Amino acid sequence: MDGFIEITTKDRIPNGQGRMFEVKGIPIAIFNIDGEFYAINNTCPHRAGNLSEGYLSGSIVTCPLHAWEFDVKSGNSPAGNNIKVASYKVKIEGDKILVSL
Ligand code: FES
Repeated sequence: MDGFIEITTKDRIPNGQGRMFEVKGIPIAIFNIDGEFYAINNTCPHRAGNLSEGYLSGSIVTCPLHAWEFDVKSGNSPAGNNIKVASYKVKIEGDKILVSL
């Protein structure tokens, strides 16, 4: 299946929110932005905050612990520094969300 792994279904992630799924021991945060889905590593590189529980504004998620920000489309910090989290390709098949690790 092209390296993509079925993770969940679209209805389990409300618009404007994220959810965490553990896949092969990797915590993955999947976000829904107006029906488009994006996947990044769930663990904030600062002190391991759960990014899936962060506040999402546009494509920027704010870590719930100390407010570091990441673009869920790329994993990069919008501050322009070198801080980032891994991002993963997402594929939609019907109602299913698949991620390539
Ligand atoms: S753990 Fe995410 S900003 Fe501190």
